Amino acid sequence: MAVTIQQLIEWKQQGRSLVALTAWDYGIARWLDEAGVDVILVGDSLAMVALGHPTTLPVTLDEMIHHAVAVRRGVKRSLVVCDLPFLSYQESISQAIHSSGRILKETGVQAVKLEGGNPAIAETVAKLTAIGIPVMGHVGLTPQSVHQLGYKQQGKTEEDAARILREAIVLAEAGAFAIVLEHIPADLAAQITAKLPIPTIGIGAGPHCDGQVLVTADLLGLSDRQPPFAKVYVNLRQVIMQAAQEFAQEVREHRFPPSS
Ligand code: KIV
Ligand code: NA
Repeated sequence: MAVTIQQLIEWKQQGRSLVALTAWDYGIARWLDEAGVDVILVGDSLAMVALGHPTTLPVTLDEMIHHAVAVRRGVKRSLVVCDLPFLSYQESISQAIHSSGRILKETGVQAVKLEGGNPAIAETVAKLTAIGIPVMGHVGLTPQSVHQLGYKQQGKTEEDAARILREAIVLAEAGAFAIVLEHIPADLAAQITAKLPIPTIGIGAGPHCDGQVLVTADLLGLSDRQPPFAKVYVNLRQVIMQAAQEFAQEVREHRFPPSS
């Protein structure tokens, strides 16, 4: 049975942890789906892990749609969410509707995700959800603001923690169905998780969130730089290099293909 947004909220009430990972193409999406991952995020981190950009800022809406279409083709069960890239939703509510509408209509994913929780973003979330576009929020470290925030942990001062809590509450009130909490102290994430009726999905936010997400390239050892909170479950970089080197050696020594 395909995962629904309603189910995610029920799982929070039941205390069942939600499992999310990112994907950027058909193959990765297919394997994550078959592995039973609940939510697959076409994150704008694909700018870095799939396209080689230094930040998430350069990726375009067209590029996100191109990748989301491929991801969607690989998925049967997982709920698929696609990031709205930098400057595809901040200009105006009508821009956000246009971009989100393109994502839903052209890719078949079920929801969009956007960053931040200031009043303008909350208003955008309220409008999108009012017209039937499910929205996932994202607060704490928001990589689209890297030039202001860096990649540092957020919410360390009492004042900043209060701001992040307020933003999370406002996003939930605006109709967001879930919210990513990135790189904030575990006790702040616990507090937000207890306060909100919608699931929190942590990344570098401690163990008390309703679910966890990682960038799949980090999990697989494929990223140039791992964030401090990532865990490398398998070093595919090494596996891939070794396979390529073995192939190269066999070709150069005329051992592949075998002479029958
Ligand atoms: O783009 C991304 O991969 C994300 C996750 C880190 C949540 O937004
Ligand atoms: Na993102």
